[in-house]
Amino acid sequence: MLCHLLLFTFHILTSSSLSVGKTELCNDEGTEFEIEYVTAGQPLYALCPLQILLDKNFNITWIKHDSQTEITSDKQTRVHQDQKYLKFIPADLNDSGLYQCILRNSTFCVKKLRRVKVIKHDDGLCYNHSVRFLSRTTIEPSLRIECPNIDIYVKYWNIKVKWFKECQPLDLDSKHYSALGKSLIIKDVSTQDSGNYTCEVPFMYNGVSYNISRTREYSISDIPNEPEAVMVFPTNNVIDVELGAPLTLTCKALYNGTIGLVWTYNETNMALYAEDDRVIMGFTEQTPTEDGMQYFMTLNFTKVIEEDYNRKFYCNIWYFSRSTNFYVTFKKPDPNYQGFLIALFVSLMLVIVIAVIAIRIFKVDIVLWYRNSCFANADQKAADGKIYDAYIIYPKKSTSYEMDIFALKVLPEVLEKQCAYRLFIIGRDDLPGQAMADLVDKTISQSRRVIILLGNIFCEKLGDDFEQKIAMYDALIRNKIKVILIEMEKITDYTDMPESIKYIKQKQGVLRWKGEFTEAALSPNTRFWKNIRYQMPPVQHHYDEELHYIHSGEEMN
Ligand SMILES: *[C@@H]1O[C@H](CO)[C@@H](O)[C@H](O)[C@H]1NC(C)=O
Ligand SMILES: *[C@@H]1O[C@H](CO)[C@@H](O)[C@H](O)[C@H]1NC(C)=O
Ligand SMILES: *[C@@H]1O[C@H](CO)[C@@H](O)[C@H](O)[C@H]1NC(C)=O
Ligand SMILES: *[C@@H]1O[C@H](CO)[C@@H](O)[C@H](O)[C@H]1NC(C)=O
Ligand SMILES: *[C@@H]1O[C@H](CO)[C@@H](O)[C@H](O)[C@H]1NC(C)=O
Ligand SMILES: *[C@@H]1O[C@H](CO)[C@@H](O)[C@H](O)[C@H]1NC(C)=O
Ligand SMILES: *[C@@H]1O[C@H](CO)[C@@H](O)[C@H](O)[C@H]1NC(C)=O
Ligand SMILES: *[C@@H]1O[C@H](CO)[C@@H](O)[C@H](O)[C@H]1NC(C)=O
Ligand SMILES: *[C@@H]1O[C@H](CO)[C@@H](O)[C@H](O)[C@H]1NC(C)=O
Repeated sequence: MLCHLLLFTFHILTSSSLSVGKTELCNDEGTEFEIEYVTAGQPLYALCPLQILLDKNFNITWIKHDSQTEITSDKQTRVHQDQKYLKFIPADLNDSGLYQCILRNSTFCVKKLRRVKVIKHDDGLCYNHSVRFLSRTTIEPSLRIECPNIDIYVKYWNIKVKWFKECQPLDLDSKHYSALGKSLIIKDVSTQDSGNYTCEVPFMYNGVSYNISRTREYSISDIPNEPEAVMVFPTNNVIDVELGAPLTLTCKALYNGTIGLVWTYNETNMALYAEDDRVIMGFTEQTPTEDGMQYFMTLNFTKVIEEDYNRKFYCNIWYFSRSTNFYVTFKKPDPNYQGFLIALFVSLMLVIVIAVIAIRIFKVDIVLWYRNSCFANADQKAADGKIYDAYIIYPKKSTSYEMDIFALKVLPEVLEKQCAYRLFIIGRDDLPGQAMADLVDKTISQSRRVIILLGNIFCEKLGDDFEQKIAMYDALIRNKIKVILIEMEKITDYTDMPESIKYIKQKQGVLRWKGEFTEAALSPNTRFWKNIRYQMPPVQHHYDEELHYIHSGEEMN
């Protein structure tokens, strides 16, 4: 023992003398931040902190910092240096302190301090609570706890590791616990498995056995530590989907971290949902947004079929160690009666408005067409007992040549010859010597219409015409006969017209003859003649041909 001590002292002396001459050449890197902890009585291999240079061709020297003595390389000594490791086999509480690792080659020197702390276990425990590895996890089917930082001490895998929980040995042959290499496997993990796990590895050196122990605290929670992603779509909702329509669903979630998305049905990937390519699933894509990273994945139905309804299609969010899901369900849209009724109503209104406008515009043509068509050919007015279709009033004393032409030539030409009406025109159809008053009264009562031709001279020449007064009386007071007013020229001033004419004009308007006396103007299909025909009664086809013949004959005379 004495000898040993002497040798040791000698060694210290020689080492210190060796180191003294070379200190001034070395680059000082200071002190390494990381501390090497070891429990008193257990082995420690402290690593030289100049790690990046360790593999190069340097001579390595360890020096105890406070004494500046080089540490021996003698492997039989409790504390000795062995290349990049400073070995304490075992460590003593006195060994706590700073150790200098010095690297040298022929031209270069660098040094850095390593702090070693030798600690004791807490009272009554198999570990020091300050020197524990800490881990957190959520519940998983099984948990694997590794015995940390032992690989440099024991190089083989089939080591026999003892495991303790809260310093109580665990039965590694039970259903719950088992050991595999340097790991403890825990099955059916629950929050009850939280605790301080200590592993103990046997270590042999020079025929002496030591223990290496490490303690790791595991916190096992069933409340996930990761924050929840914000699911934008789907959110366990029901959507209206048309049968047979194509459909694109986009699963969308916001998360500040990494997640994966996948569409599933009945816990099976949607890629396998339909045998053909009817349903296509996209990939998880992501775009940064203000609210965090937006993840999305499309699901395309080329067409929706009956069996897709009322199924829950899930979008699953996969976090690091767990997953959540949200579904969407399809429902057939309710038939939209309200919309349909509104549409129907609107179209009906539109049709009616268009029809009303069309009727207003084409009223005349429609009535004329109707009269010409077979529906109107029933002899509806056969029994009204009238002989003439219209009684023509015009200023006979007129100086207007045009008025005479129109009354005596144009009207008969169009209405009688072409439209088969029967007219009574004073001056043509009255027999000389007939009592005028009787004739007019009788003839008008035998007529269905009265046509009055107006000119600017009308009022002066015809204003007190007896004939006209009778007609007005009949038409307005007895309201039996309809009057048709025709302006032969633009009449600017009606003030001098008889009240009855003003009244008729206001009530039903006037027709204006703008035509030249041309072939075209004599066609009953011009607007003017159509308007006249419209106001005329339907043509009486059963007409007394004899009377017509007599008149025609008279005309020829
Ligand atoms: C620790 O060091 C002190 C003085 O430095 C010494 O008295 C003591 O014996 C040492 N203890 C051990 C276990 O070596
Ligand atoms: C390392 O040390 C050995 C023996 O002390 C010596 O022979 C060798 O030259 C040294 N190498 C360097 C690079 O200093
Ligand atoms: C000594 O180490 C330094 C730093 O790595 C290197 O630059 C130098 O080349 C080395 N010298 C020799 C002789 O290997
Ligand atoms: C446990 O370790 C800490 C930190 O090194 C130390 O301060 C404390 O004294 C140790 N506890 C015991 C009981 O040694
Ligand atoms: C682990 O040990 C520390 C200190 O001994 C204790 O405070 C803690 O509650 C233990 N952990 C568990 C999960 O029991
Ligand atoms: C190692 O620990 C075991 C208990 O786990 C103990 O029985 C044994 O004596 C210890 N060995 C040494 C060298 O301390
Ligand atoms: C869901 O999957 C299970 C097992 O894969 C299967 O037996 C079951 O029929 C499926 N259900 C539907 C509705 O497809
Ligand atoms: C799904 O459809 C959308 C729009 O129709 C298209 O942009 C997208 O690329 C489609 N995705 C797949 C996987 O076919
Ligand atoms: C992501 O981080 C931003 C900025 O801190 C925050 O405004 C947003 O709410 C976060 N989004 C989520 C989904 O947590």
